[in-house]
Amino acid sequence: MIYSCRPSANLQKNSSMAEDLTIAKGTKTEQYEALIPQIKGLMEGETDYVANLANITAALKEQFGWLWVGFYLVKNDELVLAPFQGPVACTRIKKRKGVCGTSWAQEKTLIVPDVEKFPGHIACSSLSKSEIVIPVFKNNKVVGVLDVDSVELNEFDETDQRYLEEIVGLIP
Ligand code: SME
Repeated sequence: MIYSCRPSANLQKNSSMAEDLTIAKGTKTEQYEALIPQIKGLMEGETDYVANLANITAALKEQFGWLWVGFYLVKNDELVLAPFQGPVACTRIKKRKGVCGTSWAQEKTLIVPDVEKFPGHIACSSLSKSEIVIPVFKNNKVVGVLDVDSVELNEFDETDQRYLEEIVGLIP
């Protein structure tokens, strides 16, 4: 059997639904603007939650080359590791613990310019220097978080917040 993720002719997918990602150059804004239609294309017609999360992490990692891009999902009142790209990571995080558990509890995006200055930061990798965590909402409830780590200090700003919030908002 041949496995392929190219659309078959009768699916009427648009051309952005290919398995190859076009990596954009330019400002951060230009990179997100080029990436978002491709992420939409990857998720078009796909209802499987894990499949969509997996491709979002891969697309972000490929475009930006960050150290770690991944989701944690709320299960039985803790965050459990879900699709990610990057080094192996902590599997479970309690509510209000670390940046992820704090973002979940506060239901808002947290930008951490220097992880060493965030009280209670959970160091899954000693290479991580800065971080952004975006809560994922479903029916007005946090069902998970998107966590992104960088080897650089001060990597993330309001532009990342705006576009990453837009991206998690696309998850069906
Ligand atoms: N640093 C996170 C833990 C997850 S890892 O970075 C992948 C935190 O403090 O919640």
